[in-house]
Amino acid sequence: MSNKKKVFIKTYGCQMNEYDSEKLVLDLEKNHYEQTTEIQEADMVVLNTCNIREKAAEKVYSELGRIKKFKDHKTDLKIGITGCVAQAESLEIFERQPAVDFIVGPQSYHKFPEIISKLKDGERNIIETSFEASDKFKSIASLAGKPKPSAFVTIQEGCDKFCTFCVVPYTRGKEVSRSQNDILSEIRESAKKGAKEVILLGQNVNSYNFEGISFSSLIYSLAEIDEIKRIRFMTSHPRDMTDELINAFGVIPKLMPFLHLPVQSGSNRILKSMNRGHLVEEYVEIINKLRFIRKDICFSSDFIVGYPGETDKDFQETIDLCKQVQFAQAYSFNYSSRPGTPASRKEELDENLKKTRLHVLQDLLNKQQTTFLNEQKNRIHKVLFEKIGRGIDEYVGRTEQFSPVTVVSKENIVGEIRMVKINSVMSHSLKGVLK
Ligand code: SAH
Ligand code: SF4
Ligand code: F3S
Repeated sequence: MSNKKKVFIKTYGCQMNEYDSEKLVLDLEKNHYEQTTEIQEADMVVLNTCNIREKAAEKVYSELGRIKKFKDHKTDLKIGITGCVAQAESLEIFERQPAVDFIVGPQSYHKFPEIISKLKDGERNIIETSFEASDKFKSIASLAGKPKPSAFVTIQEGCDKFCTFCVVPYTRGKEVSRSQNDILSEIRESAKKGAKEVILLGQNVNSYNFEGISFSSLIYSLAEIDEIKRIRFMTSHPRDMTDELINAFGVIPKLMPFLHLPVQSGSNRILKSMNRGHLVEEYVEIINKLRFIRKDICFSSDFIVGYPGETDKDFQETIDLCKQVQFAQAYSFNYSSRPGTPASRKEELDENLKKTRLHVLQDLLNKQQTTFLNEQKNRIHKVLFEKIGRGIDEYVGRTEQFSPVTVVSKENIVGEIRMVKINSVMSHSLKGVLK
C-alpha cells in the first residue's frame, strides 16, 4: 500500500488546460501526491476550469456542489479551482462555494509549489490570480516526464487579439512566447522518452515570436530533431498565417497535412464586428495556397453561430464558405455572451433562431466529415499508434491527416508508425488492418 496522498484532477476546456493539469500533477508528485481516477479516495480535488462559454463555467459550480458532499464526510479534503474560471471569477468562487480551499489562475501556476506547502500548514482561502505574466515560463518544470508517442508542448500563452466575444485575453493575459532553447530541450527530452510526434500549443500559436525567432523558424529547428517524425500545432489564427509558414508545409515533410484554422464566420460584416482582423477572402486564399503547396492537406475550423447582429444572409455566407472549403472536421458553437467582453453589451439574438442555425451548420459539417472519412476507405495511411483501444487487442492511432484509426494487433504497437489499410468508416473515425 502506498502511503501517498491522492489527487483527483478534472480538466475542462482546451489543450492548454490539459497541459497545465499535467504540470500541476507533476508539482503535486514532488510533494508526495499521486493521481487517482477515483474521486472517492482523493485527499485533494482540483477542477481545472474553462470559462469560454457560459455552460462550461456553470458546470464548475454544479460539480463543486457534488464534491462538497465528499468534504462533509472527509473534512481534510482539499478543494482547488484552477484555470480560466479561477482567473475570471476569483474571490467570487469562495463566496459561491465556501468549501473551496484554494483558487489559482493560469497566470500564477509557478506559485503552485508554494500553495501546496501552505495547504500542508493548514491554510485555507488561498488565492493567486495576479497578472505577472513575464516569469511564468521560467519557473515551469519540463513536462517531458511521462513517455508518450505524441507530446504536447506549450510554446506560447495568452492573446492580444481581443475578439469581441472572447474571454481568453482576460483570463490568460497578454501574449508571451517561451524561449526556443527551453522548447527544444523539452522536446529533446520527450524524444528520448519515445515521443515521435510533437504538438505545439498556444492560444495563438502562430503568433509565436521569441527575441526575433518566428514560429516558422522554430518549426524548422524542431524538424532537425531526428526522433521527431511528426509536427503539428494549434490553435492558429488566420492573421498570423505568414507566407513563410504556409511555405513550410511544402518544405518540411514532418509538418503534418492537417490544419485547425478557426474562422468563426463566413460573413465579412460579422468578422469585422467580431474584430477578427481579416476578410473571408483572405481566409480562402490561405486555404487555397496551402492546398496548392501540399496536395493532401485537410482543414478543421471553429464557428460561432448567432453572434449579435447575425442576419440570415450572414449565416448563409457561413454555409457558403463551408461548401467552398470542404472541411475534414469542424467545431461549431452557439454564441454565448461572456461578462466583461465587448460583445456582451450587444443585443442577443433569439435563442431558438440561434439553435436552428447551429443545427443547420452542424448537419453540413457532419456531412463533410463523413465525406472526408469515406474518401479514406481502401487507402493506405501511415498511422502513429498512441494508445491501447477499448476492444480486445485494439490499438488507436492517427493518420497524418489527424483522423483517428483503430486496428487489431497481437503485438503492442504503441509508439510505432505503421502502414494501415483503411477498411471501414465509423462516424468520427476509421478502422483498418496493419499492412
Ligand atoms: N484562439 C483560438 C480559439 C480559442 S477559443 C482562435 O482565435 O481561434 C476556442 C473556440 O471557442 C473559438 O474558436 C470560438 O469558436 C469559440 N468561442 C470563443 N468564445 C466564444 C463565445 N463567447 N461563445 C461561443 N463560442 C466561443
Ligand atoms: Fe479568443 Fe480571438 Fe484570442 Fe482566439 S484570437 S483566443 S478567439 S480573442
Ligand atoms: Fe477555456 Fe481557458 Fe482554454 S477559457 S478554452 S480553458 S484558454
